[in-house]
Amino acid sequence: MAKRIDVSGLSAFYGTHRAIDDISMTVEPRSVTAFIGPSGCGKSTFLRTLNRMHEVTPGGRVEGKVLLDDENLYASNVDPVTVRRTVGMVFQRPNPFPTMSIYDNVAAGLKLNGVRKKGELDTIVEKSLKGANLWNEVKDRLNRPGSGLSGGQQQRLCIARAIAVEPQVLLMDEPCSALDPISTLAIEDLIGELKSRFTIVIVTHNMQQAARVSDRTAFFNLAGVGQPGKLIEIDETERIFSNPSVQATEDYISGRFG
Ligand SMILES: Nc1ncnc2c1ncn2[C@@H]1O[C@H](COP(=O)(O)OP(=O)(O)O)[C@@H](O)[C@H]1O
Ligand SMILES: [Mg+2]
Repeated sequence: MAKRIDVSGLSAFYGTHRAIDDISMTVEPRSVTAFIGPSGCGKSTFLRTLNRMHEVTPGGRVEGKVLLDDENLYASNVDPVTVRRTVGMVFQRPNPFPTMSIYDNVAAGLKLNGVRKKGELDTIVEKSLKGANLWNEVKDRLNRPGSGLSGGQQQRLCIARAIAVEPQVLLMDEPCSALDPISTLAIEDLIGELKSRFTIVIVTHNMQQAARVSDRTAFFNLAGVGQPGKLIEIDETERIFSNPSVQATEDYISGRFG
C-alpha cells in the first residue's frame, strides 16, 4: 500500500542539542497514528518536522528524510510554505486569530491560497465548519469573533480552519489537553470522522485517548535527561496496548514508568 508519510533516518536539533535521533516510520493514508511517550522525548519536535515547522525555531535543523506521497519535504526545491499548507497543524491551545470573525478564521487559508469568490468561500466555510462539527453552533453568528467561543468550540474552529484548505495530513499536538471532558469527546469523535478524508497524526498524553482514536501507536522514549528521544516501537494500537514487543513500552503504558 502506498505510504502517505515515509520517514527515514530523521534527527532534529536545537543548535547542537539532538532532540530526536534517527527516527524511521511510515504512515498509511486515511489512518490515525498516535504518538505517546514521556515529556521531553521529542514528540512535538518530531511532529513539527513533518510539516517543516521545526526549522522556524532559531537553531532548528533536521537530518534525514520525510517523504510525503513519495516526495521529500526536505528536497532543496521544496517551498516550506507550501508544505505547511499541505500538512495542516492543530495546536495544544486553541489559537483562533483573535481579531477575526468565525467566518474569516476558516476562510483565512483559502484567501491565502487565492480563493476570492464569495460564493466559493461561503461553500467551503460551511463545509469545513460542518466537517468540524461546529456549524450548528455558529451558523447564526459567523461574523462574531472566533475568540468569543468556548475552548472546545475554538479548538473545533481551528480544526475547521485547518481542513478548509484540504490538507493531505493533519497534525495535532495534544489537541485536547486544554479542554474539558465533553469537548474532548467531541474532538475524539471528530477525529474518527475526519480520518475518512485525512491522514491524522496526534500527540497525546492520554493513553485512553490513544487507544480510543488511533489505528497505530508510536511509543517514544529517552534514555535520560539531555539524551535524544527515540522511537521505541510503532504497531497496531491494539497490539501496543495488549502485547507490545518492547519492555519499555509495556512499563510506560502500565504506568510503571520511572
Ligand atoms: N524551542 C526549543 N529550544 C530548545 N530546545 C527545545 C525547544 N523545544 C523543545 N526543546 C527540547 O527538545 C526536547 C524534546 O522536546 P519536545 O519535542 O517538546 O518533547 P515532548 O513534546 O515529547 O514533550 C527536549 O529536550 C526539549 O527541552
Ligand atoms: Mg510536546
